[in-house]
Amino acid sequence: MKPTGLLQEMEDTSPKMTSHPMPQLRVIAVTSGKGGVGKSNVVANLGLALAQAGLKVLLIDADLGLANLDIILGLNPQYTIHDVLQLRRTLAEVLVEGPGGLKILPASSGIPELSELDEYQKLFLLNELDNYSETVDVVLIDTGAGISRNVLFFNIAAQERLVVANNEPTSITDAYALIKVLATQHNERRFKLLVNGLSNPRDAEAVYRTLLKVSERFLGRDISLEYLGYIPHDDAVPKAVLKQQPFLTLFPKARVSRSITQIAQRLWETPGSEEVDGNIKFFWRRLLQFRI
Ligand SMILES: Nc1ncnc2c1ncn2[C@@H]1O[C@H](COP(=O)(O)OP(=O)(O)O)[C@@H](O)[C@H]1O
Ligand SMILES: [Mg+2]
Repeated sequence: MKPTGLLQEMEDTSPKMTSHPMPQLRVIAVTSGKGGVGKSNVVANLGLALAQAGLKVLLIDADLGLANLDIILGLNPQYTIHDVLQLRRTLAEVLVEGPGGLKILPASSGIPELSELDEYQKLFLLNELDNYSETVDVVLIDTGAGISRNVLFFNIAAQERLVVANNEPTSITDAYALIKVLATQHNERRFKLLVNGLSNPRDAEAVYRTLLKVSERFLGRDISLEYLGYIPHDDAVPKAVLKQQPFLTLFPKARVSRSITQIAQRLWETPGSEEVDGNIKFFWRRLLQFRI
């Protein structure tokens, strides 16, 4: 598929970006308070939409409890990040290729040990990632749900946080709980919101307004919650999950596919993190040095 709109312009400017010694990389945690709100489907299909627009995309499955990005994408990974951390495999051996040239780092129960790695392991991993760093434009991390150590870990390491919620009261209160922990305990003040599974824009915006109101009221007006839009409820999603293919591939004309393509464009149009160092090594260094 040819890049369209602003993504086209984005790609057209890429020679300038690649000539920069540290190409701008965006590392985005896709996260939620409550499980089952559509994170993994968002990661897989948003990643694919960005890849179809010409960007090099790495997906990290960091949902330890319910690692299923590989299943959604119909992959059978042989190794996981755990094998890299145990120095058994190189990153290149562990990464699997998905549809549209997506690269996927499969999940593993080894991730909670990240903060306990010894210096040698850290150096090995940093070196592995460094070798790989030039080849990626955007990293999307499926963090899993909740406020567990692992979820916070990846949210803090990433440069941007994209919260996914639907209109169930539990989804909204749990999204707030996650934002609150990240804001009050880890000083993260900027979030993006994606509302999933609603049938009209009014209801979706109501979710955004509720979350914005409660966040500003209890966490202060300097909290930034940017509304990225909504993804409609669409039977194409469960149908594609059953077939273990992204809905964007299986049903490219479905409402949900058009909306995820628009969300991808909007995400790419909005500025990323204010942090200057967009290097993947920086992201991994933060991740490895992070303690909860
Ligand atoms: N927009 C949508 N329309 C219809 N069903 C959806 C939609 N988004 C997600 N689902 C369904 O919800 C379920 C959970 O989605 P998933 O992406 O696995 O959530 P999470 O990763 O947040 O746990 C899946 O069975 C999926 O088919
Ligand atoms: Mg999931």
